[in-house]
Amino acid sequence: MRPVLGIESSCDETAAAVLDEAGRVLAESVLSQESDHAPYGGVVPEIAARAHLAFLPEQVRRVMAAAGLGFAELGGVAASGGPGLIGGLIVGSQFAKGIAIAHRLPYVAVNHLEAHALTARLPGLVEGGVAFPYLLLLVSGGHCQCVAVEGVGRHARLGTTLDDAAGEAFDKVAKLLGLGWPGGPALERLAADGDAARFPFPRPLLGRAGCDFSFSGLKTAVAQEVARHGAGALAVRMAADIAAGFQCAVAEVLADRATHAMAMMRERAAGAQVLVVAGGVAANGAVRAALAAAAGAAGFALVAPPVRLCTDNAVMVAWAGIERLRLGLADGLDFAPRPRWPLDAVPGAPRRLAEAPA
Ligand code: KG4
Ligand code: ZN
Repeated sequence: MRPVLGIESSCDETAAAVLDEAGRVLAESVLSQESDHAPYGGVVPEIAARAHLAFLPEQVRRVMAAAGLGFAELGGVAASGGPGLIGGLIVGSQFAKGIAIAHRLPYVAVNHLEAHALTARLPGLVEGGVAFPYLLLLVSGGHCQCVAVEGVGRHARLGTTLDDAAGEAFDKVAKLLGLGWPGGPALERLAADGDAARFPFPRPLLGRAGCDFSFSGLKTAVAQEVARHGAGALAVRMAADIAAGFQCAVAEVLADRATHAMAMMRERAAGAQVLVVAGGVAANGAVRAALAAAAGAAGFALVAPPVRLCTDNAVMVAWAGIERLRLGLADGLDFAPRPRWPLDAVPGAPRRLAEAPA
């Protein structure tokens, strides 16, 4: 197979990448729109869509030039087709389809969650590669779920959040502490100097059966603690202790939920032995450490891709495209982007490669 172009535009990163068949990254570029959205304290869908429209052509031109390839030399074009913000999904999908039509290439509509899930299989990431089946813990700003990854297009969601995603909880608590958006990295820096034991915040669902998550009660407890100290900025010491207490509670809950998920995974597949963590929250050191300990205790190996591959990027989209194209899984040009697209609804059965347009 010739190299594949991947496009990511489902949220607030405008990204493009070219990978060869073996999964080697020939070129990649991620443009974060963070500074466009920061004044509003979160992603503004209309601003995101317009930014994708403005910057995607240049991103694609840049990676194609860096890879030294013309479009006609590609083996396919893959773009995130959902879930995500519909404006950005339309921009990325239509752009990919345009290239596919003009150069008679197969087009792949990649499920963004499957792209996160398959990243661990990128050659070179883990010695010997990660084989199916494995357990995925996806912890990002928009998603918090445990997934049994049993093959390309073969996924079962074991548990999910009942309210906020883990990253969303980090962002909301960071806001309470006056840290700006996105708050996860700033909160982690602040927590480094804090005393996690000073505020024993609740651990929602800890020890409960299954592997669902809940963060709204924890967020409320933090809000009440902040309010107790009156209006205005908190003393730095106080803020650091609250941040550390919150982060410790999240890490403990994630480790507990992952432990339950690993047991559920073993019931499905006795040989399962890998826990993959992905999403922006996987960048958090305390979370990684807690998950590594939980995995070790359950006899699983923790695979945490490097942070740039855990957060949104186009390498994972191109790689998911390659995995699908290898199985003959391409999509028709009538594919409609899907703002909601659960992983267990991703097609996996071999289908005919889409006809190249006449
Ligand atoms: O996967 P991601 O880049 O984007 C999507 O949500 O799809 O994840 C972003 C989320 C944000 O909520 C951000 O605050 C959180 O990941 N995050 C972190 C850290 N870095 C990013 N949360 C905790 N600690 C971090 N170091
Ligand atoms: Zn994502």
